[in-house]
Amino acid sequence: MKPPRKLHIKSYGCQMNVYDAQRMVDTLAPEGFIETDSAEDADLVILNTCHIREKASEKVYSELGRLRVAKDEAARNGRAMRIAVAGCVAQAEGEEIIRRAPTVDVVVGPQSYHHLPQLLARAKSEGRALETEFPVEDKFGFLPQPKPAAIRARGISAFVTVQEGCDKFCTFCVVPYTRGAEVSRPVAKIVDDVKRLADNGVREITLIGQNVNAYHGEGPDGRTWPLGKLLHRLAEIEGIARLRYSTSHPRDVEETLIAAHRDLGALMPFVHLPVQSGSDRILAAMNRKHTADDYRRVIDRFRTARQDVAFSSDFIVGFPGETEGEFAATLALVMQIGYAAAYSFKYSPRPGTPAADMWETVSAAEMDERLVRLQELIDTQQSAFNRAMIGETVDVLFERAARNPGQIVGRTAYLQPAHVFASPDIIGQVLPVTIESLERYSLLGELAGGVAQPAPTLPQLTGA
Ligand code: SAH
Ligand code: SF4
Ligand code: F3S
Repeated sequence: MKPPRKLHIKSYGCQMNVYDAQRMVDTLAPEGFIETDSAEDADLVILNTCHIREKASEKVYSELGRLRVAKDEAARNGRAMRIAVAGCVAQAEGEEIIRRAPTVDVVVGPQSYHHLPQLLARAKSEGRALETEFPVEDKFGFLPQPKPAAIRARGISAFVTVQEGCDKFCTFCVVPYTRGAEVSRPVAKIVDDVKRLADNGVREITLIGQNVNAYHGEGPDGRTWPLGKLLHRLAEIEGIARLRYSTSHPRDVEETLIAAHRDLGALMPFVHLPVQSGSDRILAAMNRKHTADDYRRVIDRFRTARQDVAFSSDFIVGFPGETEGEFAATLALVMQIGYAAAYSFKYSPRPGTPAADMWETVSAAEMDERLVRLQELIDTQQSAFNRAMIGETVDVLFERAARNPGQIVGRTAYLQPAHVFASPDIIGQVLPVTIESLERYSLLGELAGGVAQPAPTLPQLTGA
């Protein structure tokens, strides 16, 4: 038995990092590491970093400054604290981290987490260790692994990776460089993970990846399966009440996915489909490989398959050369589609991406102003969407006790948090709830009892 040691992981960025952090915990558990909430008392601190925008990657160095103080303090008390940097900044600038931050013991890229125990041993014997080569075999387990780190259930809802990496090369984006080429896991591995999670009480699975609808994994029949077919298979697994997937690219929405939305009650009618811009010129400069009209048609295909489907999206304002008219085209698209939620960002030039060399910049003031206008519009749509729930009876999957004593919180099909006063016995169940009020982004309701109602007809949010 290894002596117990404390591990603290801080994750930034996307769901893939959240998932990877859990896998790091699972990989380090046999080494005696137990998770702690405090970086100060940890024997090992891992910063699981994100490189997507400048702000995200800058956080690493300021956090490392704080950790250096904690490490020195621990050393004064005769305790060794090790610091590892993982994630996309590690991948993109591993050498620079080693140079700039002498306090860092280990730098590990997203393809190498299963080597963490060996890297820690190497850091101990050699001082420091860096591993950002990729692809280094495969952490997904295409190859037989000596000791597969069993995926552990951590609640009612779980993430499962189905693919990693991206071949799209949008001109603003670092992901193809930090996560590498698109790789899909075989269907059998995913089915095994989902079964194991279901056996441990998980009721909702979100399939994750940088571009999940590019999924093309090997099926049990030896053929390549698309995402829709995989979803059909997963819906058969006992105990799984809800399926979701994220993130999708508008170019890769194929017919089996649309069919899955039509045929599978378990597949939630909430689709994150980033569009980035409503201007065809900007979309082309972004190398998105679709026009605004292509996107509208994709949305229509989903809506034809399932009338209660709602959408969220990502937007970038101030891409190099974006004119006021081109930004207005984004606003027009948002008005036309009507989103239940959306994320919007100011363009941030990323080293090594083609857009970073585009010289026509948009001023900081214009970017700020455009972001405010876009976010106001999105907020209006989101509030209207949430308010439309009041008075409706909707299915909620209950996940845990809420902060308010006596309340249990769950989520609607559209990921809205919904609170009811009820016994904790309902955790893990999908129950109809009559929504009575809305507090900021949270719904408050009462268990409706009886059987689930058919899905309500949602307002089309056109024109907000
Ligand atoms: N794979 C996902 C998203 C990856 S990053 C997809 O294709 O949708 C999440 C979001 O961050 C992107 O959708 C984009 O809106 C934003 N983003 C990515 N690079 C950015 C950059 N350089 N500046 C600002 N926002 C960016
Ligand atoms: Fe980045 Fe584009 Fe790939 Fe999304 S699809 S991860 S935005 S390159
Ligand atoms: Fe960030 Fe890497 Fe995810 S750059 S968004 S952590 S894939």
